[in-house]
Amino acid sequence: MATTIDELEKRRELAKLGGGDKRIAAQHSKGRLTARERLSVLLDPDSFEEVDMFVEHNCSDFGMDKQKIPGDGVVTGSGTINGRLVYVFAQDFTVFGGSLSERHAQKICKVMDAAMKVGAPVIGLNDSGGARIQEGVASLAGYAEVFQRNVLASGVIPQVSLIMGPCAGGAVYSPAMTDFIFMVKDSSYMFVTGPDVVKTVTNEVVTQEELGGAVTHTTKSGVADVAFENDIDALLATREFFDFLPLSNRHEVPARPCTDPWDRVEDSLDTLVPPSTATPYDMHELIRKVADEGDFFELQPAHAANIIVGFCRIEGRTVGVVANQPMVLAGCLDIAASKKAGRFVRFCDAFEIPILTFVDVPGFLPGVAQEHGGIIKNGAKLLFAYAEATVPKITVITRKAYGGAYDVMASKHLRGDLNYAWPTAEIAVMGAKGAVEIIFRGKTPKEIAEHTAEYEERFANPFVAASRGYIDDVIMPHSTRRRVALGLRRLRDKQLENPWKKHDNIPL
Ligand code: HXC
Repeated sequence: MATTIDELEKRRELAKLGGGDKRIAAQHSKGRLTARERLSVLLDPDSFEEVDMFVEHNCSDFGMDKQKIPGDGVVTGSGTINGRLVYVFAQDFTVFGGSLSERHAQKICKVMDAAMKVGAPVIGLNDSGGARIQEGVASLAGYAEVFQRNVLASGVIPQVSLIMGPCAGGAVYSPAMTDFIFMVKDSSYMFVTGPDVVKTVTNEVVTQEELGGAVTHTTKSGVADVAFENDIDALLATREFFDFLPLSNRHEVPARPCTDPWDRVEDSLDTLVPPSTATPYDMHELIRKVADEGDFFELQPAHAANIIVGFCRIEGRTVGVVANQPMVLAGCLDIAASKKAGRFVRFCDAFEIPILTFVDVPGFLPGVAQEHGGIIKNGAKLLFAYAEATVPKITVITRKAYGGAYDVMASKHLRGDLNYAWPTAEIAVMGAKGAVEIIFRGKTPKEIAEHTAEYEERFANPFVAASRGYIDDVIMPHSTRRRVALGLRRLRDKQLENPWKKHDNIPL
């Protein structure tokens, strides 16, 4: 018996060594942690239950039968984050470059299947040279098995991807289909074809970092949500982020004790909106002053910053926040903002997370680039997402709510449950000056100015909409947290169903 126990211990030690000390040192020299080190930061101490530690690849081509490393390049299992269950896989770059073999894929699929059965999120730590080249089509098949599971799990369990090294070729499509992607600066990249292929095909010269690094994907492409400085920052932030997520679509949003008074008055909000409608202000201030303890986890802060999305808590429960940002493009909706917020609204709706919307929007962004880029179909994504959402929806209009963008931003007409406006709200087809210049075309500047004042007097307020019941109440800015908290309490047992359908056909 003692020998068998010794044998087990030896095998475990060997598996834990992955590709060996030399490759571990190489990984460290790039400023990266190993797969196991990453899991030890991500998960609660001693909570990791590993499975498939002894799995080996089944390839015999190219001398692979003589190179078997237990675990086959991915560490898989389950653990807890602040006591809540999570399934994980972490690709081990020290073993065949973390490349994906048939067995490696089977290990990932096993944890995804387990997570689906019990209803728990999956977090994938990606660090891989892509398809295991020696295995050929078996590796491609493995990818597709993972893709299929990503799709079936979408909307059932939250899926989070951390990109912590290379992620190239078709391999990018698994993270792309998960709900959130976090990257590490100067250490991770994602692209379908790398710089060499790009150079050959289009003659463009570009570095890996420029083509698909963390900064590129969190600013330009919007493929990833947040870029972190290093592995540790990314993993610790993921723990914090995880606390906002429900375990699955059959679990309630997490609730934690809250010491921040639900009816906290914020007098400073009464002067947040500047006297001139053309002067911007930072919408983050409102979000933080309404949120429990000022805590807000923002997603995609550097991409389409004209709209803000992220999670906060009200009375200890997760709430999804969507807010126009007057500091960027005056808060206009454009293609990128509509896609960003549309996807976020759908995540919240799939997981029963109430949506709090703060509105200060002068309309859709005009321009040839926007029209030719498809603002019609892309803007419709956000409209569609809000309209189909059945979760509690509370909307607060702080200032402008003009035109189609008024309709889109969780208006009463899209089944907003509680639609509030501050006294500074202006709900109208468009801004007064623009409106008057159309209605009174050809009039003198003096007449235009008079009519503008008249239009402002008549429409630049929340009361016309309130008189029709489109606004449920005009509220004092300082009482916003209290009104939102009360509203969420009232709506906790909200029931609303859309008509039966196989699925909808959101404008993609
Ligand atoms: C097998 C691989 C591998 C792979 C790396 N390795 N990628 N083994 N299959 N795809 C091995 C290397 O042989 C090496 O083994 C070890 O991992 C580390 O690799 P290095 O090249 O030394 O590391 P580095 O210099 O950091 O470069 C990392 C890299 C490079 C940029 C990822 O390894 C690379 O370009 N790999 C090939 C990438 C690729 O073309 N993949 C297939 C893409 S197609 P030793 O024993 O020396 O330590 C694809 C399709 C997916 O993925 C389709 C899904 C639908």
